[in-house]
Amino acid sequence: MSPSSQGTALVTGASSGIGATYADHLARRGHDLILVARNQDRLEELAARLRAETGVAVEVFPADLANPADVARVEGRLRGDAAITLLVNNAGLGPQGPALGSDIGYQDTMIAVNVTAVNRLAIAATDAFVAKGAGTIINIASVVALIPELFSATYVGTKAFVLALTQSLNAEVVKAGVTGVRYQAVLPGLTRTEIFDRVGKSFDDLDPKMVMEVGEMVAAALAGLDQGELVTIPSLPDPADFAAVNTARYALGPNLSRDHAADRYKAG
Ligand SMILES: NC(=O)c1ccc[n+]([C@@H]2O[C@H](COP(=O)([O-])OP(=O)(O)OC[C@H]3O[C@@H](n4cnc5c(N)ncnc54)[C@H](OP(=O)(O)O)[C@@H]3O)[C@@H](O)[C@H]2O)c1
Repeated sequence: MSPSSQGTALVTGASSGIGATYADHLARRGHDLILVARNQDRLEELAARLRAETGVAVEVFPADLANPADVARVEGRLRGDAAITLLVNNAGLGPQGPALGSDIGYQDTMIAVNVTAVNRLAIAATDAFVAKGAGTIINIASVVALIPELFSATYVGTKAFVLALTQSLNAEVVKAGVTGVRYQAVLPGLTRTEIFDRVGKSFDDLDPKMVMEVGEMVAAALAGLDQGELVTIPSLPDPADFAAVNTARYALGPNLSRDHAADRYKAG
């Protein structure tokens, strides 16, 4: 792989939807690419198109991120390949329906891909990027992390994990005085991809006013990255609304851990 001036971006879930769209946009920004997903044929097809259209180097890296051995191979690549400057931690599964009465085996797979793999890859990339003092990690969460009551419980839990992981890792590297390592949590709303087709549902059954085209979503998320955002919510008109959430959260801070219970909880 010839080194590009932007370095190499490793994109998980690059065979369709948001991941494939990131791959396209990043290639046009001059990144070489490592494309990770299970469907090798689709990755090869995308890789061939992007090589032809943009001239960047594209490697296909088939892996099942529900499989610990495959996750370890991707981690090894992140730790060992100094050309990698960007991780897009995107691969994920949507819910089959409400968590109540759902297939617990499917939930386990969702947690393996949406949480365990995301965590392992984010930590591997953080270690590698901190060691060289540079690198960017984009974690794809979801707006449901902010409004858990609106969607399927276990999926929401996985996305709340991704948001909290990103905020906390960022705080850790800032506290450690590391500069040059950046994080972004992207919180898409409904975005037209294959995510619902895979669980027998369709975006066509939803209010079209709530569904963004995937190209617009990824372009907005990259604009948020360029603007230095830690958290990007592509459809949110007024950033002050999210800033207010954070102000309220931080105001809780001094009272969340004290040496005595609050008066209302004192017996008698
Ligand atoms: N679309 C939305 O409305 C929406 C909203 C908020 C957040 N998100 C998040 O966006 C991310 C991408 O989803 P999408 O909407 O683009 O859906 P998608 O079109 O279904 O794409 C999912 C990607 O993840 C990969 N993937 C699934 N299971 C995998 C596994 N076990 N190992 C490796 N790769 C796996 C798929 O590739 P293979 O099948 O080839 O493995 C595919 O490339 C997910 O994390 C999702 O939660 C989506």
